[in-house]
Amino acid sequence: MRTVEIEPSLYAADFSRLGEQIETLLRSGARVFHFDVGDGHFVPPVTMGPIVLKSISPPILEQRGAVDCHLMVDNPERHFAEIREAGGSSVTFHYEAVEDPQAVAVLARAQGLGVGLAFNPETSPEDAAAAAEGFDLVLCMSIHPGYSGQDFMPDAVGRIRTLRRLLPPETFIQVDGGVGPENVRELYLSGASLLVAGTSIFGREDLPRAYRRLVQALA
Ligand code: DX5
Ligand code: ZN
Repeated sequence: MRTVEIEPSLYAADFSRLGEQIETLLRSGARVFHFDVGDGHFVPPVTMGPIVLKSISPPILEQRGAVDCHLMVDNPERHFAEIREAGGSSVTFHYEAVEDPQAVAVLARAQGLGVGLAFNPETSPEDAAAAAEGFDLVLCMSIHPGYSGQDFMPDAVGRIRTLRRLLPPETFIQVDGGVGPENVRELYLSGASLLVAGTSIFGREDLPRAYRRLVQALA
């Protein structure tokens, strides 16, 4: 992983052209793709799962990229083996969905997966940081999880700053929800280096241009 990544969130893609849109973004330099799995229980919508992942992961992995799987599901551990087999690189599950994050992280590592801990806007960053020892990344949600296209919650900036203070420097901070050219730099300066972008990329006609706009806004 590079020190900073704009991660296209495939949930916001045009599913009739999913492969083509991924190829376009790979050519534009994107390497880490964000893949949202929702179960209709932890979050209201059912989104996508290992069957779709298996189709889209090969070209990303061939470019030495990664598919970062955001599991908005209860009992996330039930899906780890299938996600790994389908080409997933890492799993980020929710603090609110599990009783013992450390024990669930061990199960993810056993499958050879990277591991992240996500937390909702109602959960304090202190609680999330305290549970995230040994995780590769902590995901600060800047929306209520479930859908693409929601407005960014500005209080996420303060939560990211708190996390950056509490987490060891090697733990990446990811931010997801309403990320766009207008806030990406502030988020990066606050301590987030994995910036998930759905609508601000796929909601635009020209994907390479939308991706480049985000990269340039970081500089
Ligand atoms: C929704 C997902 C996000 C979503 C982000 O809960 O976790 O990854 O696709 O979409 P935007 O960037 O449009 O908020
Ligand atoms: Zn997500």
